[in-house]
Amino acid sequence: MSRATIIDGKAIAETLRREVAAGVSDLKRAHGIVPGLAVVLVGGDPASQVYVRTKSKATTDAGMLSFEHKLPAETAEPALLALIAELNGRKDVHGILVQLPLPKHIDARHVIEAIDPAKDVDGFHPTNVGRLASGAHALAPCTPSGCVILAKSVRNDLAGLEAVIIGRSNVVGKPMAQLLLAENCTVTIAHSRTRDLASVVRRADLVVAAVGRPEMVRGSWIKPGAIVIDVGIQRIVSADGKSHLVGDVAFDEAAQVAGAITPVPGGVGPMTVACLLRNTLQAANAIARA
Ligand code: GUN
Repeated sequence: MSRATIIDGKAIAETLRREVAAGVSDLKRAHGIVPGLAVVLVGGDPASQVYVRTKSKATTDAGMLSFEHKLPAETAEPALLALIAELNGRKDVHGILVQLPLPKHIDARHVIEAIDPAKDVDGFHPTNVGRLASGAHALAPCTPSGCVILAKSVRNDLAGLEAVIIGRSNVVGKPMAQLLLAENCTVTIAHSRTRDLASVVRRADLVVAAVGRPEMVRGSWIKPGAIVIDVGIQRIVSADGKSHLVGDVAFDEAAQVAGAITPVPGGVGPMTVACLLRNTLQAANAIARA
């Protein structure tokens, strides 16, 4: 028996995707521009292949153009940088996403910095990271943007909440902190070296778990009534030999205590894709207005 409201990320993402599709129609009508998203995948990582396929389908479903570039794992860094330069120059490409992680011989930093910040729909370019941190209008990273929408679906005003983010990655933890600061939360970023993580999390009115450790966050760590957003997604095999997807939060335990919680799957995942579409539309709109 769960007590918490289960936040339906799939339904909320569906609503956002419909709004984006309407925006795409408006842009076509007003300026004759069809937003285009280029997704670059280097190598054959199975999880990345699934993500790329999902992103491409969502892009075309929203009425945008999708350009998939699949390169072999042994692609040299200069060849990838040359592709980025070509995509930067293309009029029909408004968004560029290079799927991470990249093979070890390629420096992801060089690749991210090569993307035109105006087309950086991941929000990973230092220009966009800096704009977000300084409160300027920016293409914000998709997963943390989706987390904010999910939290606000149960509590419209997050101001004054104690927010604890578990994980300090550039993809989720750090931009999450900036977005929650912008929502006037009191923000703590906890990580692998945090002392007594359980008691830090117990302070939180809003928990964002993004560590990549299956079911690490226990129900006993959750403050009664807290909003719990679970970014983790891992496939595990349980004692009965069945494989299933779990997050960073022990869902059944946490749902007894939390006020609201995202499920895995069907929580944060669909929002990441919807926010990517929103960023692509935003980039195309900005180019149309320029
Ligand atoms: N790999 C895992 N998450 C992401 C993401 O948000 N963007 C990109 N480019 N790669 C990822």
